[in-house]
Amino acid sequence: MPADGVPNCDYLDRLMRRECFEALWPLFAKAERPAKELTESYSALLHLRPFMSGAGPYRVIHVGDGAHARTAAMFSLKTPSHNISVDPELNLALVEKWRERFGIRRFTCYKARIQEVAEMLNALPVLPTLVTFVHAHVAVDEVLQSLRWNAAFTLACCHSEQQLSRIHRARASGADLSVLSVARHFQVLVRE
Ligand SMILES: C[S@@+](CC[C@H](N)C(=O)[O-])C[C@H]1O[C@@H](n2cnc3c(N)ncnc32)[C@H](O)[C@@H]1O
Repeated sequence: MPADGVPNCDYLDRLMRRECFEALWPLFAKAERPAKELTESYSALLHLRPFMSGAGPYRVIHVGDGAHARTAAMFSLKTPSHNISVDPELNLALVEKWRERFGIRRFTCYKARIQEVAEMLNALPVLPTLVTFVHAHVAVDEVLQSLRWNAAFTLACCHSEQQLSRIHRARASGADLSVLSVARHFQVLVRE
């Protein structure tokens, strides 16, 4: 049991014991700090999982998911959701190769800014829709304003005034000590 108030390896230990770790590893191993990245994505997953308690289907849009779509990849392996990764820096060839290698389904990538695809995403069939912003370099309130969504998770890094919502009620917020990064302030937002 991790000590109160002290950063801990709880998420990392839990992930490394899972079977899906083998499939996650090729994507996370490419990061400069794989442990940090794993725990950031896992924080998003654990905080949004309560919104996926039924049989689904669910849609999760991962905004600013980086070149390797790591948070979408983790959600595809560990939840019943359909995942959509959106980032202008996406490495489509690498992610597609990974998807084929592990037979991953319910996973779509858009190499684009979220502003370029928001309208198209809103035109998809209506489903309970969650959004992740894992250290995403976007203005969270502006992006949420442009999307149809039910709940969202945001983890702030260098621009916390934009990466944390000022207009939506946070159902949970604070420092997630199992995130192995100093940038560990998060919010779970629910649309009212
Ligand atoms: C610090 S990186 C985080 C990447 C990834 N989530 C991670 O934790 O490794 C910030 C990401 O935000 C993306 N980004 C910046 N503007 C964006 C926009 N308008 N729409 C979608 N993604 C954007 C960048 O391309 C970059 O990959």
